Amino acid sequence: MRRVTLTLLIASCLISSCASQWQEPVDVPEPVVTPDATAAPEAVAAPDPIITVGDPTNFLADAPTVFITGANRGIGLEFVGQFSTLGWNIIATARKPESATELMAIADRYNQLVIERLDVTDFARIDELSTKYAEQPIDVLLSNAGITPKYKSAFKNVSGVDWDMAMKSLEVNAVAPLKLAQSFMTQVAASEQKKIVIISSKAGSFELSPKMAMMYSYRTSKAALNMYMYTLSFETPKKGITLALLSPGQVNTVPGMKIPNAIETDESVSKMLKVIDGLTPEQNGKFLDFEDGAELPW
Ligand SMILES: NC(=O)c1ccc[n+]([C@@H]2O[C@H](COP(=O)([O-])OP(=O)(O)OC[C@H]3O[C@@H](n4cnc5c(N)ncnc54)[C@H](OP(=O)(O)O)[C@@H]3O)[C@@H](O)[C@H]2O)c1
Repeated sequence: MRRVTLTLLIASCLISSCASQWQEPVDVPEPVVTPDATAAPEAVAAPDPIITVGDPTNFLADAPTVFITGANRGIGLEFVGQFSTLGWNIIATARKPESATELMAIADRYNQLVIERLDVTDFARIDELSTKYAEQPIDVLLSNAGITPKYKSAFKNVSGVDWDMAMKSLEVNAVAPLKLAQSFMTQVAASEQKKIVIISSKAGSFELSPKMAMMYSYRTSKAALNMYMYTLSFETPKKGITLALLSPGQVNTVPGMKIPNAIETDESVSKMLKVIDGLTPEQNGKFLDFEDGAELPW
């Protein structure tokens, strides 16, 4: 455990010294499990899969609607909480709604929330949801789901690249958001606000990411995401849509872990909401900072 803490400190210092305003979350150390040789392994029944929770007919006709991916924890969950406070209709997606206890708790008390099961790499399910919500204007399509860097692999050099994770990161962080945008473009264009918001990262910026070999898969997937969206931004104005990428800042989203200088999800999300609220067509295709919407370099 001491070795893990020390490594974490070194890693944190390394990042800070390389890029003063740039850091990324790291994963929690693995819990220490003390095996009990005498105890028989307990059979834990997996909860039944849940496809949908809530009913979109509860949506208010005069309230704006947001569609959020990766809504069961971290930044996505905080977005759901804050959008509910603002009275929005919310379509929140999660890979396993049955395990998303905090999201379910919001659905218990907030009628205008529908939870849909979605792994963003399941393109057939994205199409199914697009069909289900074909007549539902979506004011803000918010692509938030992402594979974030893991503690164990984040600081490895090229010999340590996990190729499965490399492919998966591209699929989840870059390709899936483009598929999502493609499938829901019509619903966004039919809305009043017409915004596509993509959560990216400074890790994907050539200028802002640290000048060192680290997080090969994550930073590359976010750079690919940026280019996909930059390219798409040449199509969105024709539909009246404003597309922007957002950096959420460095945010504590790993339970039980506080990263030096990181902010909490409520601060990141409340500031991003202001940026989203104030988005103008001139910001189409730009990469913006959570703090004040300042344009960030690619
Ligand atoms: N936290 C930061 O400091 C920071 C900094 C820069 C950018 N970001 C970006 O902000 C976004 C949210 O980050 P976070 O810190 O809140 O991350 P997080 O706590 O690790 O949560 C990631 C979310 O994405 C979901 N997800 C992962 N793979 C998915 C898949 N295949 N299909 C559907 N959902 C999937 C997770 O669902 P499961 O629970 O099912 O795994 C979870 O809901 C990410 O795009 C991340 O890259 C975060």
